[in-house]
Amino acid sequence: MRASLPLATCLFALLAGLVAACGDGGPPAEPDAKKAETTETVADADSTDVGPGTVFTTAKQCGQCHREIYEEWKASYHGRAMSDPLFRELSAEVNKEECIRCHAPVTLREAGFETPIARSDLREDAISCLTCHDTGDGMAGPSQGLTGACRPVYDPQQSDVVKMCFVCHNQHDTGNEWLRGPYSPEAPEPRVRDVKTCLDCHMPEVERSIVPGGPVRKVRRHTWYGGHSITMLRKAAEIDVVSEALPDGGHRFRVFVTNVGAGHMMPTDARHRSFDTYVLVRDAAGKILLDPTDPQQQSRAHLAKFRKFYRGSGKKDTQIPPLARVDTLGEGPGYVDLPEASSGTGEAWLVYRLTPRDVLNKRSLDEGDPHDIDRLYRARVVIRKEFTYGK
Ligand code: HEC
Ligand code: HEC
Ligand code: HEC
Ligand code: HEC
Ligand code: HEC
Repeated sequence: MRASLPLATCLFALLAGLVAACGDGGPPAEPDAKKAETTETVADADSTDVGPGTVFTTAKQCGQCHREIYEEWKASYHGRAMSDPLFRELSAEVNKEECIRCHAPVTLREAGFETPIARSDLREDAISCLTCHDTGDGMAGPSQGLTGACRPVYDPQQSDVVKMCFVCHNQHDTGNEWLRGPYSPEAPEPRVRDVKTCLDCHMPEVERSIVPGGPVRKVRRHTWYGGHSITMLRKAAEIDVVSEALPDGGHRFRVFVTNVGAGHMMPTDARHRSFDTYVLVRDAAGKILLDPTDPQQQSRAHLAKFRKFYRGSGKKDTQIPPLARVDTLGEGPGYVDLPEASSGTGEAWLVYRLTPRDVLNKRSLDEGDPHDIDRLYRARVVIRKEFTYGK
C-alpha cells in the first residue's frame, strides 16, 4: 500500500528542487481549454460510441449516459490528475514513468486493490471511471439489481474506502490518519463523533437520476473537493484569538486553530501544502500596527506553520490532528508581542498554501468564486476572524 522509499525520495528531491528553484516568479501557465472541455456535454459526444456489446474504454463513453457524474469527474482532481500543471511540472511533463501508476492506473480490481499499476494507453483519462468501476465484465456499483448498457453489477467493495481510497491515499498516511481518528468505525467508545468515511465528506450524497429519465436515487457526487476548494477548506477549521496585556505595556496575541472538520490531519497528504496563522493588529484609531501583507512585517505577523515537511528537511511534522486545538506545534512561536498595542482591534487569519512558493499578498484576500477549484499559485486567506483587545 505504501510507496517504495526510492519513489518517496525522488518525489522529495523533485519538490525540494521546486522550492529552491522558485521565488516569487510568475505562476506557471493555467491549463488551457479546461473550461471548454468541462462544459462539453453528452449532446456533443458521438452517440454511436455506445451500443449493444460496446467495450467500454473511455470516460467519455460513460458520460453519454452518466452526464452529471462525468462533468463532476472531469472538473475534479481525479479527472485532472494528468493535466494538473504542478503534476506536469514535477513529473517532467509526464515523462517520469514511476509517477503514472497512481495518476493514470489500470483498474483497481485488476491490481487486486493493491499498489496501482500504470496504464499503457488512454493516460489522458487519468483516474478514470473505469479505474474505480470496471470489473472486467461490468461496472461495479453500490446498488443491487440495476440494468443498463454498461452491465452494472452490485459489489459491496465499491463502498469500502479501505479498498477504494487507501490504495493511493495511504501513500502519505491519509488512510491511517482517518482510521486512528474520531470518525473511524474503530474509534474507541464512547464515540465523540459519528462515523464518517471519506465518501461522506468528499462524495456527498445527492438525490438525482444517474441516467437521463432514470429514477431518482440517493447517489454520490463525484467532485472530491479537497485542498483546492475554499469551501472545503472552510469546513476544516475554526480559529480564535487570545490577547493578553504585557506587564510593561502592550499586548501578546495568540491564535489557535481547531481542526473541526477534516477527517484526518490538517493538512494531510501532499508535503508541499500548509496551513499558516497570521495576525493583523490595529490601534484604537484604526491605524494598522502589524500587517501580514506588508513584506517588511510579514515574518513577524506569521505565527505558526502546520505542515508535513519534505523528507530530509530535518523538521518535525506539524499537522493538526482531528479535533485538536493548537497555537503552535513547534514551527513558529504561536504568538507575537506588540509593546505599542494598548487597545484596538485586529484580525486573525488562517492561510492555506498549495505550494511553499505561494505568495501571501493583498490578492490573497480576494474572495473570488468559492467553488473555484483551479490552482491559484498564491496563498489564500481561508478564514478572517475579527477581535478587539485592551480597554
Ligand atoms: C502511490 C501513488 C502515487 C504515486 C506513485 C505518485 N503520486 Fe502524486 N499523488 C498521489 C495522491 C494520492 C495525491 C493526492 C494528494 C493530495 O492532493 O494531497 C497526489 C497528488 C500529487 C500532486 C498534486 C498535489 C497538489 O498539491 O496539487 C502532484 C503535483 C503529484 N502528486 C506529483 C507526483 C509526481 C511528480 C510523482 C512521481 C514522482 C507522483 N506524484 C507519484 C499519489 C501518488
Ligand atoms: C476514485 C474512484 C472513482 C472514480 C474515478 C469514479 N467513481 Fe463512480 N463511484 C465511486 C464510489 C466510491 C461510488 C459510491 C459508492 C457508494 O455510494 O457507496 C461511486 C458511485 C457511482 C455510481 C452510482 C451512483 C452514485 O453516484 O453513487 C455511478 C453511476 C458512477 N459512480 C459512475 C461513475 C462514472 C461515470 C465515472 C467517471 C465519469 C466515475 N463513476 C468515476 C468511485 C469512483
Ligand atoms: C448507454 C448508457 C450507459 C452508458 C454509456 C454507461 N452506463 Fe452505467 N448505467 C446505465 C444505466 C441505465 C444504469 C442503471 C441506472 C438506474 O437504474 O438508475 C447504469 C448503472 C451504472 C452503475 C451502477 C450504479 C449503482 O448504483 O450501483 C455504475 C457504477 C455505472 N453505471 C457506471 C458506468 C461507467 C463507469 C460507465 C463507462 C465505462 C457507464 N456506466 C456507461 C447506463 C449507461
Ligand atoms: C488511483 C489512485 C487514486 C484513488 C483510487 C483515489 N484517489 Fe483521490 N487522488 C489521487 C490523486 C493522484 C489525486 C491528486 C491529483 C492532482 O492533484 O494532480 C487525488 C486527489 C484527491 C482529493 C483532493 C482534491 C484537491 O482538491 O486537492 C481528494 C479529496 C481525493 N482524491 C479523495 C479520494 C477518495 C475519497 C477516494 C476513494 C473513493 C480516492 N480519492 C481514490 C489518486 C487516487
Ligand atoms: C469528516 C470529514 C472528512 C473525512 C471523513 C475525510 N476528509 Fe479528507 N478532507 C476534509 C476536509 C474538510 C478537507 C480540507 C482541509 C484539508 O485540506 O486538510 C480535506 C482534505 C482532503 C485532501 C486534500 C489534501 C489536503 O490536506 O489539502 C485529501 C487528499 C483528502 N481529504 C482525502 C481523504 C481521504 C482519502 C479520506 C478517507 C481516508 C478522507 N479525506 C476523509 C474532510 C474529510
